[in-house]
Amino acid sequence: MNSLKPLQERIDNYLATYISQFSPSNLQQAMSYSLLAGGKRIRPILVYLTGQMFNCPLMKLDSVAAAIESMHTYSLIHDDLPAMDNDNLRRGKPTCHIQFGQAEAILAGDALQSLAFSLLSENQHIDNQSKIKMISELARASGIAGMCLGQSLDLQAEQQKVTLEHLQNIHNHKTGALIQAAVRLGAYASGEEAKPYYQNLDNYAQAIGLAFQIQDDILDVIGEQELMGKPQGSDMALEKSTYPALVGLQNAIEMTQKLYQQAIDSLTQIPYNNQPLKDLAGFIINRNS
Ligand code: IPE
Ligand code: IPE
Ligand code: MG
Ligand code: MG
Ligand code: MG
Repeated sequence: MNSLKPLQERIDNYLATYISQFSPSNLQQAMSYSLLAGGKRIRPILVYLTGQMFNCPLMKLDSVAAAIESMHTYSLIHDDLPAMDNDNLRRGKPTCHIQFGQAEAILAGDALQSLAFSLLSENQHIDNQSKIKMISELARASGIAGMCLGQSLDLQAEQQKVTLEHLQNIHNHKTGALIQAAVRLGAYASGEEAKPYYQNLDNYAQAIGLAFQIQDDILDVIGEQELMGKPQGSDMALEKSTYPALVGLQNAIEMTQKLYQQAIDSLTQIPYNNQPLKDLAGFIINRNS
């Protein structure tokens, strides 16, 4: 999606400048290596597009977008560790632990997690009340009731046949929670104007969050490693519980299309320029990387 490029460049530049303020060290290098390796930046883009829809200036959203990406990058570094998915390629480069060793990769993840909260709390453009709300939301979405719980359930579900309901619960936590937080934070940064639409935005985020992980599962089966920048077939090797494994490839694809429609319907009720968020939903289910 070409229209994503300006926002991708904006967050890339912001992250590069921010991380370069810290004195050089192995830790700083490992963090920069993973953070600046060039992901799709979907979560920061969700922050920007949600805020922009409510006329929030991008400047107010930069550190919020960076916080989400920092948290996400930490989750990827830990997800790739030998104790978890044991992958050696990420964002087209050797994974953090292959490049810097496991101990440094664990620490880089830890420090990216706390960096996310620094980024949110240092934002000069947002009032303290809203900042506390954002910090609390990001904490919720990342930890025991969000991403970490989902990752734990994902590991427990290896070599198991789980119900569709349980698999959806895993995906909603490990991936959906941070995607929902990205949309919520964009809305919180926008102040009063966004308030009447929190529920619509949550409905949108839940639909694209689940669709995002189902598409990730699909790409593990039919994607090209070159385009994805990460190994294909990793889920199969670990006997992960995934949508294609549980319901078959075709049904999984149909589910992403249904979720796309739900996402569009939720946005249609928001009387602002919702087209960019609609386009992003389309990108999420059609992407090949
Ligand atoms: C991969 O996320 C991990 C999942 C939650 C599915 P992305 O597909 O957003 O990875 P990057 O950030 O573009 O590398
Ligand atoms: C990871 O899901 C979700 C995270 C919280 C990082 P996956 O394990 O499927 O992500 P990839 O396929 O390695 O990117
Ligand atoms: Mg995983
Ligand atoms: Mg993985
Ligand atoms: Mg995957």
